[in-house]
Formats: sequence, structure tokens, C-alpha cells
Amino acid sequence: MNAEGRGRLDRMPQWQALARHREELGEVHLRELFAADPRRGERYGVRVGDLYLDYSKNLVTDETLRLLRELAEAAGVARLREAMFRGERINTTEDRAVLHTALRAPRDAVVEVEGESGENVVPAVHAVLDRMSAFAEAVRAGKWAGHTGLPVRSVVNIGIGGSDLGPAMAYEALRAYTDRELDVRFVSNVDGADLHEALQGLDPARTLFVVASKTFTTIETITNATSARNWLLAGLGAGREAVAKHFVALSTNAEAVAEFGIDTTNMFEFWDWVGGRYSYDSAIGLSLMIAIGPDRFREMLDGFRTVDEHFRTAPPEENAPLLLGLLGIWYGGFWDAQSHAVLPYSHYLSKFTAYLQQLDMESNGKSVDRQGEPVSWQTGPVVWGTPGTNGQHAYFQLLHQGTKLIPADLIGFARPVAGLEPALAAQHDLLMANLFAQGQALAFGKTEDEVRAEGVAEEQVPHRTFRGNRPTTTILASELTPSVLGQLVALYEHKVFVQGAVWDIDSFDQWGVELGKVLAKRIEPALTEGAEVEGLDASTAALVARYRSLRGR
Ligand code: F6P
Repeated sequence: MNAEGRGRLDRMPQWQALARHREELGEVHLRELFAADPRRGERYGVRVGDLYLDYSKNLVTDETLRLLRELAEAAGVARLREAMFRGERINTTEDRAVLHTALRAPRDAVVEVEGESGENVVPAVHAVLDRMSAFAEAVRAGKWAGHTGLPVRSVVNIGIGGSDLGPAMAYEALRAYTDRELDVRFVSNVDGADLHEALQGLDPARTLFVVASKTFTTIETITNATSARNWLLAGLGAGREAVAKHFVALSTNAEAVAEFGIDTTNMFEFWDWVGGRYSYDSAIGLSLMIAIGPDRFREMLDGFRTVDEHFRTAPPEENAPLLLGLLGIWYGGFWDAQSHAVLPYSHYLSKFTAYLQQLDMESNGKSVDRQGEPVSWQTGPVVWGTPGTNGQHAYFQLLHQGTKLIPADLIGFARPVAGLEPALAAQHDLLMANLFAQGQALAFGKTEDEVRAEGVAEEQVPHRTFRGNRPTTTILASELTPSVLGQLVALYEHKVFVQGAVWDIDSFDQWGVELGKVLAKRIEPALTEGAEVEGLDASTAALVARYRSLRGR
């Protein structure tokens, strides 16, 4: 039994019941499931806010869904969910509360962090949002002047991981809502090429750097920020006093921000109860807010909140994040699916899956349970995908006819974003026809008989047959607005939560990223100064030697 009073997942009767049920289902085909229930397409749908989820093309029956819900109940998902919303320290390995939902709580809400003398965090959240709004308005109105008195017109966000992926994804997603007069760019990679390219054509006198780092110690970000500062001061021919007008920080670490030379009155704070990958609706969203404006940003927060409330209050049968989470558990646990594709049919969502990779894989890429015992069940899948229709001409072949079962989410919108020229907006039906066609082809395929009926030569039949039975969930929304984006992100945040809760892992730490960071620090002097590095394995030592020789060192 663990702290929540549950046993190990694979010994729970509900898990074992699912295993038996899976055996009974055997080689069940979606064609049979649809034939047996003409209303399946309508019955297997849930609505949340502006999103509609059609999960009918999944390899489930009413019985599967019932058993999965029983598993969630027995695993204590609802209890852990309440504990999260109430501010309990459910991130046990870091002894932290997990309160990203407080970032979108209304002004009059009360959310207290456990153990911090019952402090209500909502006033602080709104105080920062108000400061961000005032700052964003000033930049947008050309009222934020740089060192020489010229207004800032370019914004470069420097951050990595959660301090980059969220705002960069949302900036792309909401481009139609951005002020096109402002040039907003994102730099993350410690590869100098990233900053080099981002700085092309920028005028230092009119450039603002937004340094986004929760810890303000992340080597990539501090290295890039330092190079950006050098570029700025050289370009302006100015001393450190110019930094204050051209650098702002988004961080929890005021001391390190001040040390860097950024005026802490230009630091927008957040808190240790916001995980990096759950942070783009905190101060980390400042560059996005500058681009889309505070009102749109708040609409996005409202979207998040709609799904938060749904997740907290909707009954299990209609609870969209719960359902998505359970479907993933079903495929990983009982169909041996190793990966999950997220395929948005919107070019504006071109960075959405990359964003979800951190959200999902950094959260649930774990192999010990909350008690530190190795798990003997699948945890987080490999999340991957790119926008349709591009992927169709690349890897969809494998989705349709390969040997792997890859459940996929197809995300689409009823209307193109506002502002597209009518002729381009007219292409939207073709885009969506492709989404619907892919879901249909993946589920139902094309039988040998159907192929033969087309007069295909016998030896060609196996090559042209589609087995089908490839599960998809279709997420359909009215239009990609700021609110809908918030809804989509919260949907996946809570899906990941549900899975972590059932798998009994801590979804909110990320110890797995530490070892590589430590080793890189140790290896770097060997590359630059030829220093002896203790404990290098034979392969790495030989690679280091070869690297040095190629560099002529
Ligand atoms: O590499 C892991 C990580 O800690 C992420 O979880 C985080 O989003 C990213 O690095 C950036 O961290 P920071 O915002 O502290 O610079």
C-alpha cells in the first residue's frame, strides 16, 4: 500500500480485470464494433468548452470504458486531483505543491499552498498578471524606450524547455492575433547558431531581451543571455547601465537576476509550485502577451480555466482529460503501444506536438513508482507528430501499413483562423477532408475483397490492403482562438496528470535530465583546455580525443 492507500498497479483487481477483458477482446476490429452499434459515432463523444472529442474510433467497448473508470477510481485519481487543486505537496520528490491551475484562477478565488502558513496565492498571481499587462501594453504602444530613447520594436525571448516551448508554441498558434508590427523571436539552443540567426537584422537600440528561466541557472539560457548582453552593449557602444532598458527577466530567482544586471523591478516572478513545463500561462508567457496583448492572454487563461473546472467537476463518463488519459493507459498497458502521435490539422499548431513532448515525456517518462520501486508496467509513451497534411506524405505509410500500433489524436477546427484571405480560407475544407479521411482509413482500412473488387491483380492485393483497426481520437473545435488554445493545453495537462496518477509515478519532477547536465559541465574543459576528465568511459574518451584533433587542439 502506498500513501494513497492503494496497492501496486499490476496487482490491483481492476488492472487484472482489464487484462482478462483484453484477452476476451482478442482480435476485435473497429469494423465489427461499428457494425454492432450504429450509434457508436455519437455515443462515444464528449464535449468540453469549445472542444468536441470523438473517441469512437478507439479499440474500446462500453465494458472497456467501465473497467478503465473503475481502475481510475481504485487508483485514487480523484483524490490526487483534489490534492493538486487544493495545493497539497503532491510533487513528493521535490516536496512541492503543483498549482499551475492557480495561474488561471479568477481574482476572487482562494488557493492555499500546503504548509506555507495557509497563504492564498491568487492575489500574487493577479498582481504579476497586472504588472505583465502594464509592461506589455507599454511595449505594444511603443512607450517602452531603450537606452537611446528609441522605442523597442523587437522582442527576443531567451529560454529553454518550459521557458521556451510553451510561449514559442503559443506565439505560433496565435500568430493571427499578434501585432504584426512587433518582431518576436525565440532563442533556446546553446548552439550559437540559434542566437546568431535570431539577431539577424535586429537593431540593438530597438531590441528587448526577455530572459525566461525559472531557476536562472540553466546553462543554455545564461550563456545565450550573456552573449546577447555582449551583442547589445557592443552594438550600442554603451556600458552595463544600458542593460536595464533592454533586458527583463521571468524567474523565481531574484538574486541571480540582479547578479546578471537586470533591474529586479523588471523581473516578473512566478513560484516553485509552477513546474517549468506547466508555466507558459505564468510570467513565462510575457513575450506571448506582448505579441497578442493582455486581453487575448486573459482569454487564453479563461480557456484553461474552463477545462480545469470540467476536469474537477465533470462525472467520469463525461470527463475528457480522464478519458484521454485512460485510453493511453489502455494502449500502453494492454496493447503494447509504445508511442502516441498528435497530429494537428492546423499549420498554426506546428509547434504543438513539440510542446506536448516536454509536457508528457518529462512528466511521465519515469520507471520507478512514488515509493521508489521499479514499475512493471508501461509509463509515458513517445509523443510525436507534425501537422497534417504534411505528415501524410512522410510517415503515414507506417501508420497505415506498418507493424506498430500507434494511437493518434487528430486535431482540427471547423473554421480557418480569422483574417485569412477568402481564397486561402477556402482551402480549409480540403484540409479538414484530409483529417476525416485519415481517421476513416486508419480505422476501417480496405479489405482484400474490396481491393479485389477494384480489379487489382492477385499478387498486388496484399500490398494494397489496409488492415485498419488503427485507433484515433478526433478533437474538433470551432476555431483556433486564444481560449481554444488554452482549452487544448489544459486538456493535455490533465490527461498527463491522470496517467501519472494511475501509473503511480511523480509526474512533476524531472531528475532524468540532471545526469547529462552534470556530465556536460565535466566534459567541457576537456574540449576547450584539454583538461583531464576523470571517469570517462573508453568510447567517450576516444570521441573527445578525436574532437580535439579535428579542432586542431
Ligand atoms: O531540463 C529540464 C528543465 O529543468 C525543464 O524542466 C525546464 O522547463 C527547463 O529545464 C528550463 O529551466 P529554467 O526555466 O529553470 O531555465
